[in-house]
Amino acid sequence: MIFRKRTHTNGELRIENSGEKIVLNGWVNSHRNMGGLMFIDVRDRYGITQAVILPDVSPELAEKAKEIRSEFVVWIAGTVRERENPNKNIPTGLIEVLVEDFEIINRSEVPPFEISTDTQANEELRLTYRYLDMRRPELQKKFIMRNQLYQITHQYFAQNNFLEFETPILTKSTPEGARDYLVPSRVHKGNFYALPQSPQLYKQILMMSGFDRYMQIVKCFRDEDLRADRQPEFTQIDVEMSFIEQDDILTLAENFTAKAWKEILGYEVATPFKRMTFHECMTRYGSDKPDLRYGLELTEITEIVKNSGFTVFSNALAKKDGTVALLNAKGCADFSRKQLDELTEYAKKYGAGGLAWMKFTDGAVNSPIAKFLTEDEIASIKSASNAVDGDLLLIAVDEWERCFTILGALRTEVARRTSILESVKGTFSFHWVVEFPLLEYSEEENRYIARHHPFTAPMADDVHLLDSAPEKARAQTHDLVINGYEAAGGSIRIHQNSVQQRMFDLIGLTKEEAEQKFGFLLTALKFGAPPHGGIAFGLDRLAMLLAGTDNIREVIAFPKTTSALSLMDGCPSEVVDEQLRNLGIALRAVEK
Ligand code: AMO
Repeated sequence: MIFRKRTHTNGELRIENSGEKIVLNGWVNSHRNMGGLMFIDVRDRYGITQAVILPDVSPELAEKAKEIRSEFVVWIAGTVRERENPNKNIPTGLIEVLVEDFEIINRSEVPPFEISTDTQANEELRLTYRYLDMRRPELQKKFIMRNQLYQITHQYFAQNNFLEFETPILTKSTPEGARDYLVPSRVHKGNFYALPQSPQLYKQILMMSGFDRYMQIVKCFRDEDLRADRQPEFTQIDVEMSFIEQDDILTLAENFTAKAWKEILGYEVATPFKRMTFHECMTRYGSDKPDLRYGLELTEITEIVKNSGFTVFSNALAKKDGTVALLNAKGCADFSRKQLDELTEYAKKYGAGGLAWMKFTDGAVNSPIAKFLTEDEIASIKSASNAVDGDLLLIAVDEWERCFTILGALRTEVARRTSILESVKGTFSFHWVVEFPLLEYSEEENRYIARHHPFTAPMADDVHLLDSAPEKARAQTHDLVINGYEAAGGSIRIHQNSVQQRMFDLIGLTKEEAEQKFGFLLTALKFGAPPHGGIAFGLDRLAMLLAGTDNIREVIAFPKTTSALSLMDGCPSEVVDEQLRNLGIALRAVEK
């Protein structure tokens, strides 16, 4: 059968089109037989248009239309007319199409869930039938928005003289941070490629090749534990520049972010963004990516309690970096015993041994630890934390970073449990976190590891610390935090061979290991490497924030579950013996 081509989409017709002969295609969103009138709502990615059949006028069409079911694909020809009962909720709501001819192009089984904005179907079912899920207008809006983000990105960086490159997907395995996804080589049996965790070294090599401004929208792969804002394969907006300072990267990234928010949401972002050092961020908010849409600041009280008779405090303070700090949960003095127990359990997940609390009500203090403290100490704690009647103090004691991390987690949890988080919905906060420690000590691996990556330059003032106290050296890093999410991260890189060698040394790589893993970088650094630095945005995270969701899977067309499965096509999957034989691979017995 030959149909006339569609003349309009289902989001297009307006009252001005009244009287026009048109042709529509789409999916049946809903259908109602009202006896004297039959309505079919036809949907495509542009919208919904109501079509109407008059059984009195067209009895054959009405008979044929009885077969119609939801999600059938239809072809409809007719005339636009004004609706008797307008629907103000949709742009096409003032008109309808009086059907003069229609065909069922394809049928559909009854879908396993309703294709509607407020579907109640669970995510697993929706991911299994992702193509049906993606027909929902709510999800379509998110992908249209994501597409806008691609366009803005290409445009912005092209206007700023950046060149796009494609870097390899089959790369050398150099695990640092997350685990690699490996791809066996058939030609070189026993050897493996790795899927890139990021194009970090390629973009640096591009700087050494003389392309001073690089960008790429690129897939990255990391075999790590997944969370709501993490996927095993995700997309970065990857950027690198030569002959620049950190300020140049931050300004470029701020302007890009402001442009995206303005063009996609009409939201005016004030620039420059606030900058905070890692140290300030940790001591004020207990996180390297705090949500600054609300206050709930932390207070260190080590000095106040350092001589207290409370042994839990004095024992912890006797240890290296022992710290006592608190979160003033404003107005939470009415938290019940049960709620406090739950918060204690929550704190334990972050490594807390326990959690002390102190409530101020009717001018009195109520706390299980009050008896161990002097009146002066309690008064000083109250004043240091600006506590007033009605406040609840949550007190943690531990090594410096863990103490603040526990309180930072509690800060988020308190915001979630009270009306604080809800009250800031729809608003945004943008800020930089700079000067991260260059290294951190891994007890597990018994060595220093790079906090960002081992190609990050130390701060000029701290280079001398690399020999005396490497753990104190700060790095020239920058993380962009939006509403408590790390939206981008980057740094100024090491561009001298000797400093790079020293860095590998510090993270415990022998000369041979450094040569074996990163020999190509070390060699390239000997041939006139320009000073350079860059940043990578998590494109999915930007899309997630722009779409107002906290589930990254909502903005990825074919996402994986938190156990890295693709429910629609069922990967990962077993392969046949022959494939393995060709690759020279034999499987070890694995416990399922
Ligand atoms: P980093 O590892 O900080 O830096 O990654 C940059 C940004 O990518 C996003 N991101 C993720 N998004 C979704 N799922 C994940 N599993 C995931 N991991 C990271 C985050 C993060 O801020 N090569 C460096 C960048 C540089 O130094 O220029 C890098 O990859 O938004």
